[in-house]
Amino acid sequence: MKIQKLMIENRTKVYALLQHAFPGTDYEVALVQKLHENNRLVHEWVCIHTSKVIAYIAFSNAYDGTDICGLHLAPMAVAPEFQNQGVGSELLKFALRQEAIKSRTLFVLGKPAYYQRFGFEPCGAPICPFDKNNSHFLSMRNNIAVSFSVGYEPEFNAAATSSGKQGKNRRSR
Ligand SMILES: CC(C)(COP(=O)(O)OP(=O)(O)OC[C@H]1O[C@@H](n2cnc3c(N)ncnc32)[C@H](O)[C@@H]1OP(=O)(O)O)[C@@H](O)C(=O)NCCC(=O)NCCS
Repeated sequence: MKIQKLMIENRTKVYALLQHAFPGTDYEVALVQKLHENNRLVHEWVCIHTSKVIAYIAFSNAYDGTDICGLHLAPMAVAPEFQNQGVGSELLKFALRQEAIKSRTLFVLGKPAYYQRFGFEPCGAPICPFDKNNSHFLSMRNNIAVSFSVGYEPEFNAAATSSGKQGKNRRSR
């Protein structure tokens, strides 16, 4: 298995992976497609195994108004047949060591038990607009003390609309 930056020729494989890893929803596929179409700054890596893309991770800008205040980790997925074998952990640990990521403030909306293993901690401020009491919102290297609603790239809402999901009901893992 090797980890590499996502190359354009592998984007279609990533969309297929997201469809399998998040069954019953188009949200994550629509989100990543729109981020790509709109040329948003996204830091993305994939795990390749026998020329298949078996895992994907992405980070995009987090905003305090129009200022960038960190990065959102979303989405992250491992192909169902490779889950619970350490692939997700390896990819996430790799990403956290990368230059573009390693000193940034990070946010993730996900299962605390999973992400706390990697150094994420419950986030007091800012507030996640998709999880108003921040029960599943975690952060790392976060010195923000004032409360505000953290911004996401607009595609996070647009994808919710086009996949028939409301942003606030966005899946949290
Ligand atoms: C969540 C996910 C990325 C984890 O990757 P993975 O390769 O399966 O996880 P790993 O093998 O590295 O880690 C497995 C460990 O994490 C735990 N774990 C896996 N998914 C978890 C979850 N959603 N919540 C809490 N713990 C989880 C497992 O119980 C296991 O624990 P153990 O080591 O004590 O046995 C992967 O299961 C996945 O793609 N799920 C579907 C899509 C998703 O929910 N993505 C995340 C939200 S964007």
